[in-house]
Amino acid sequence: MNIETITLPKYTWKTPILEHIERYARDRFIPVLLEDTANFLIHCLKQYNPQSILEIGTAIGYSGTIMLQTCPTATLTTMELEQDSYDIAKQHFQEFGVLDKVHQYLGDAYIVLQQLAQQQKKFDFIFLDGPKGQYIKYLPLLEKLLKKGGILFADNVLFKHMVDGPEFVPHKKRTIVVNLRKYLNEIVTQPTWQSHIYAIGDGVAVSQKIKE
Ligand SMILES: C[S@@+](CC[C@H](N)C(=O)[O-])C[C@H]1O[C@@H](n2cnc3c(N)ncnc32)[C@H](O)[C@@H]1O
Repeated sequence: MNIETITLPKYTWKTPILEHIERYARDRFIPVLLEDTANFLIHCLKQYNPQSILEIGTAIGYSGTIMLQTCPTATLTTMELEQDSYDIAKQHFQEFGVLDKVHQYLGDAYIVLQQLAQQQKKFDFIFLDGPKGQYIKYLPLLEKLLKKGGILFADNVLFKHMVDGPEFVPHKKRTIVVNLRKYLNEIVTQPTWQSHIYAIGDGVAVSQKIKE
């Protein structure tokens, strides 16, 4: 597996609302974007300037708020399985003043993605941050939902280096690790995708859709 390194500028992005959401997440052990991953996500968004963003895994709206702050003219379509997180995210989008730019879905991502694909929706940028063991299952739908030239940014693909390293993989995590390896193999070998894998945060794969 070819894991690349990249030198990034350091962006300033922590507004009071983001500090508030981050504190809320930290106090309740809700997993949200790591600092370095957020910095890289912002870098990619600035590079591609998407107008339509799809997110899998809203949680409490931390990454969604970062993405809309970085791309103020974009819309965000985002989905979340947990009612509590969905409600808190809505509150945070409202506090940030972006609720009118957000299409929020409550439900299982696989079903929501199927519905969006049936409606022939297309996006410029996809932030994949839902259940890690499901990335490979979502991939054909994400391919349909992404415009040619669009970017698929997938977080946690190295999963604490269990995916690429000699780390022992506990039995409970084995399916996730096997499925993440399948995902990485697919985006690296399929001609649809031009992909790069980075050891930023918990591992990020950035794939550009280069073929319809
Ligand atoms: C890592 S968190 C997302 C963090 C968020 N993107 C951020 O950085 O602010 C993953 C989220 O995916 C949600 N999730 C898990 N399984 C899901 C599913 N099958 N469909 C939709 N969302 C799911 C979890 O409830 C959790 O909130």
